[in-house]
Amino acid sequence: MPAIDPAHIPAKLFPVIDALCTTGAEVSRIIARGPLGQALGAGVGENSDGDQQKALDVLADEMFEAGLRGAGVRFYASEEQEEVLSLVPGGRYAVAADPLDGSSNIDVNVTIGTIFSVFEAKEGADESFLRPASEQVAAGYIAYGPQCLLAVTFGDGTQLYVLDPDTGAFALAEEKMALPEAASEFSINASNRRHWTAPVLAYVEENEAGIEGAKGKNMNFRWVGSLVAETHRILTRGGTFLYPSDARSGYEAGRLRMVYEVAPMAFLVEQAGGLATDGVTPILSLSAEKLHERRPFVFGSRQEVERIRKLHD
Ligand code: F6P
Repeated sequence: MPAIDPAHIPAKLFPVIDALCTTGAEVSRIIARGPLGQALGAGVGENSDGDQQKALDVLADEMFEAGLRGAGVRFYASEEQEEVLSLVPGGRYAVAADPLDGSSNIDVNVTIGTIFSVFEAKEGADESFLRPASEQVAAGYIAYGPQCLLAVTFGDGTQLYVLDPDTGAFALAEEKMALPEAASEFSINASNRRHWTAPVLAYVEENEAGIEGAKGKNMNFRWVGSLVAETHRILTRGGTFLYPSDARSGYEAGRLRMVYEVAPMAFLVEQAGGLATDGVTPILSLSAEKLHERRPFVFGSRQEVERIRKLHD
């Protein structure tokens, strides 16, 4: 039995999406058992970029690699692997993933997720991923939260599925998500305030001034620390997210990775009617030059993302 209702999924992509859903449902079961299973949040080392790896990061990576191999995927690029892996010679697709996003939230039972991006494979492993984000043929996330959800786009709107615990398969919940144009919430890691650039500080101060300020309305502040959870909230009820570049060493291009975090979220957000930029330039017009490169990321409700771009002018 397929792990997802095939009705709204392009037939050629179905095996890949089905494999992602089968694996996502297994990961979701492991997460749901929490401390009754293995120590998922235990530190087990560092990835190539110096980020701490948790046991669940490594486990999820192995599970998605195996699932995608079974679906005939040619190349797999993962946050947890330094180099692109060649899986099935001649396979049609190249899949990039952050197998477990938000790993600092594993042990505290807060929503975490898997983010993925799909391209038609080229001959070379690296060139399959280092290309304009607009060439993605599918992108999405699986959110492991109170519900296990899949948000996915194939370039014709953003669809939302829910993992039905009774059937074990993802069922369509919304055929076209619509991200509200205006926002009353914004998200940024405020502990980095002293390192921000002037336009970012100006935007936050404008929001803090609320109804008494130039904006003339109150804005609520939210920060979960899981990109998947933050994106899902914004897709559902609007808002803005910023992970800008800042003055800390190593944060010259922000924190988030272009290939398997920023590009897929930008595709999903724009397909739902929102905007996604690096502060100024649309993400979908940009390419990564290195597999693990970072990119400043601003996305969400159109009016707010436009306002942030103006503040950068
Ligand atoms: O890369 C991952 C991530 O954990 C995102 O899920 C999240 O948005 C961000 O980093 C959190 O960053 P910070 O550690 O600055 O709160």
